[in-house]
Amino acid sequence: MNHSAGPASAPLIGVLDSGVGGLSILRALRQELPAASFVYIADQIHLPYGPRPLDEIRQFAHGIARHLLDRGAHAIVVACNAASAASLLYLRQTFPGVPFVGMEPAVKPAAAATHTGRVAVLTTAATAGGPLYARVLDRFAANVDVRTVVWPELVLAVETNRIALDDLRPIFDRDLAPLLAEGVDQIVLACTHFPFAAQALRAYVGPDVMIVDPSPAIARQTRHVLPDHAPDRSSIPQASPSSVDYCTTGNLARFTVVASALLGESIQARQLTWQADGSLGPD
Ligand code: DGL
Repeated sequence: MNHSAGPASAPLIGVLDSGVGGLSILRALRQELPAASFVYIADQIHLPYGPRPLDEIRQFAHGIARHLLDRGAHAIVVACNAASAASLLYLRQTFPGVPFVGMEPAVKPAAAATHTGRVAVLTTAATAGGPLYARVLDRFAANVDVRTVVWPELVLAVETNRIALDDLRPIFDRDLAPLLAEGVDQIVLACTHFPFAAQALRAYVGPDVMIVDPSPAIARQTRHVLPDHAPDRSSIPQASPSSVDYCTTGNLARFTVVASALLGESIQARQLTWQADGSLGPD
């Protein structure tokens, strides 16, 4: 198959995450690329990715990318910091010619904007221990005190749509309050689940702490890497609404309910199943 062929008309973009977190990226992608179609794959049977070894996450990402390319994806957004840490370089080598967009912790803008010199990065273990995070810390955080918060509870809270401030206050009190007391004035969301908790976070931290959400930047970057650059928003006044094929490897009913709630629209989804040979299929 020739993976470098450009889209004939509207691009098809594959988006992957361990669960519903990547929907925060999908939301931004649909705004940026309203004429595009999407296949969203939530690998919920393997959620959470965060505590898993990087080579295991890499195998999952490989299987999902293979599936998305077989479905005709023109570009793939690895809408998961953990999967990006584990697999982004590998995927680019394995599927040359395919544009892959991945996540890396947005330490650079936080380090540039901090007044106190203290930055918190909210993330998972795989991202915190991965090569992309080490690289951004080396490059951008030499003169900044970075506090890394590994927060599996927040992943699970978003997965179950418990994202009201009252739901989250206990973990905010335990893990965030001490950092705020020490003067952290930038909070980097380095897990794609966390933008869904941004409203509660904002209410908790108040107006003076900046919350850095990379999803709009990821959406812009995706538009730039698409073959034959997709037209931008202003040039497609009559774009038809984008279509999304939502898939999960986990519990279909639960995914449908939670994804609908997080996106604020009623969605339908399909079941995918991992096969013994490491591929994804309908059976
Ligand atoms: N949404 C994923 C990320 O951005 C990870 C959540 C998980 O641990 O599965 O890293």
